[in-house]
Amino acid sequence: MAMSVTPPAGDAPPASRRVPNVLGLVGNTPLVRIRKLARGLPPEVRIFAKLEGFNPGGSVKDRPALGMIQAGLESGKLRPGKTILDSTSGNTGIALAMCGAALGYPVELVVPENVSVERKKIIAALGAKIIYSDSLEGSDGAIRLCREVLARDPERYFKPDQYFNPANPEAHYRTTGPEIWEQTAGTVTHFLAGIGTGGTVMGTGRYLKERNPAVQVIAVEPDDSFHGLEGLKHMASSIVPGIYHEDELDAKIPLGTDDAYETVHRLGTEEGLVVGQSSGAALFAALQLGRTLERATIVTILPDFGDRYLSTNLWIGWQRP
Ligand SMILES: Cc1ncc(COP(=O)(O)O)c(C=O)c1O
Repeated sequence: MAMSVTPPAGDAPPASRRVPNVLGLVGNTPLVRIRKLARGLPPEVRIFAKLEGFNPGGSVKDRPALGMIQAGLESGKLRPGKTILDSTSGNTGIALAMCGAALGYPVELVVPENVSVERKKIIAALGAKIIYSDSLEGSDGAIRLCREVLARDPERYFKPDQYFNPANPEAHYRTTGPEIWEQTAGTVTHFLAGIGTGGTVMGTGRYLKERNPAVQVIAVEPDDSFHGLEGLKHMASSIVPGIYHEDELDAKIPLGTDDAYETVHRLGTEEGLVVGQSSGAALFAALQLGRTLERATIVTILPDFGDRYLSTNLWIGWQRP
């Protein structure tokens, strides 16, 4: 039977949005059913992916960046004359640079030198200044250097501090959680997300559990400290973020870089979705979980699209070993 290309009645997309500025486009991302990669799963297990690449800054990090900026403005810690400063593996930097440009605040970002060239260029295009930290020290090196920069001139800066700022998970509690609840008509049974700061899994998980305590909240993390999953952290070998509370999770799924990369390639060729490495990780974990269940509505987050990784190993020469 030929597959219909038009949405079934009642599934039409919402009317297009008109907003006062770019920040009004953050959130309200679509949820898409993953069908082909989910073939072979029990018939009553459904997998859905939330496409965070539809945010205007191109990733899930637009939500916490905007939330932290709003909280800063409300508390008066961010006010005219201040520069926004943070350490970021890339997506938060892009999101903060976008917010700074839209609101008229200068932005400085500490970024590991090996972050993809596309990200560096997008940050520059948004007018932010980049301070490079040692690639070998990863995101923790960026955190340390950022602390030094702040200590040299604390009055000059507003530091959102995504690893310790409650406004990070709060943004997901206010937006990502309710969107998923509504998009699944309250049928979600499992929520999985990769962990970087932990903001997505903590805030969204807390909201979903408040609506239905039976919802299982699961974190996905690299299985080793040396990994190729940009945006994700191996907690046991990292500076643990202050907003990350492992005791609130139902489970944590470790997974390998090759499984994530293979899933990214399959998402492109079989689902028509070109996404980033951490999306492959999240979806691989969701499929693995789905195989162990009889009936479930599993929702996971695809944090960004793949165009900002085209110059990385994922697309240059990677092959399944
Ligand atoms: C590509 C990507 N995936 C996943 C994450 C993890 O999100 P969170 O910081 O909410 O745990 C990030 C965060 O930096 C990211 O940039």
